[in-house]
Amino acid sequence: MFDIVLYEPEIPPNTGNILRLAANTGSRLHLVRPLGFRLSDRAARRAGLDYGGMEDAIVHDDWRACRAHFAGRRLLAVTTRGTHCYADLRLSPQDVFVFGPETRGLPEPVLAEFPGPLRLRLPMLAGSRSLNLSNAVAIVVYEAWRQAGFAGGA
Ligand SMILES: C[S@@+](CC[C@H](N)C(=O)[O-])C[C@H]1O[C@@H](n2cnc3c(N)ncnc32)[C@H](O)[C@@H]1O
Repeated sequence: MFDIVLYEPEIPPNTGNILRLAANTGSRLHLVRPLGFRLSDRAARRAGLDYGGMEDAIVHDDWRACRAHFAGRRLLAVTTRGTHCYADLRLSPQDVFVFGPETRGLPEPVLAEFPGPLRLRLPMLAGSRSLNLSNAVAIVVYEAWRQAGFAGGA
């Protein structure tokens, strides 16, 4: 089971889509406060509907609490400022994937905790800015699951 961390997510339907992705791939979703919406937000609930509610997400009060929760695990930042292509790394079901907020990306102090090889980038055409957050999460989770032989998948 993979762990997906959304650092201070801002846009409810993205979080809802990712909650649904997590339910379909056996991943766990973690949200780091402050959130840009209420967990009861209708748009977020609607996007994740039929796949459990927002109560399935694990909420951490801040980044420090989130980091402590994952003590001993490998955390990988997925960032447009990454240096290593996500598909070149041997991924493990024990890995924790950390994604940044939609309008800002991960802040510099958080990124500084991830040395080069732990910063993954999804290739884009030159001059492109970024992918949608929920698309980025889906690409990484499916690559990690593919490498795990789609264990448990039908
Ligand atoms: C809309 S993007 C944030 C844009 C922000 N201006 C930045 O450059 O990070 C939201 C999140 O999706 C992920 N993301 C989007 N495109 C990416 C890419 N090409 N490589 C790695 N992560 C990406 C990152 O986690 C990012 O923080």
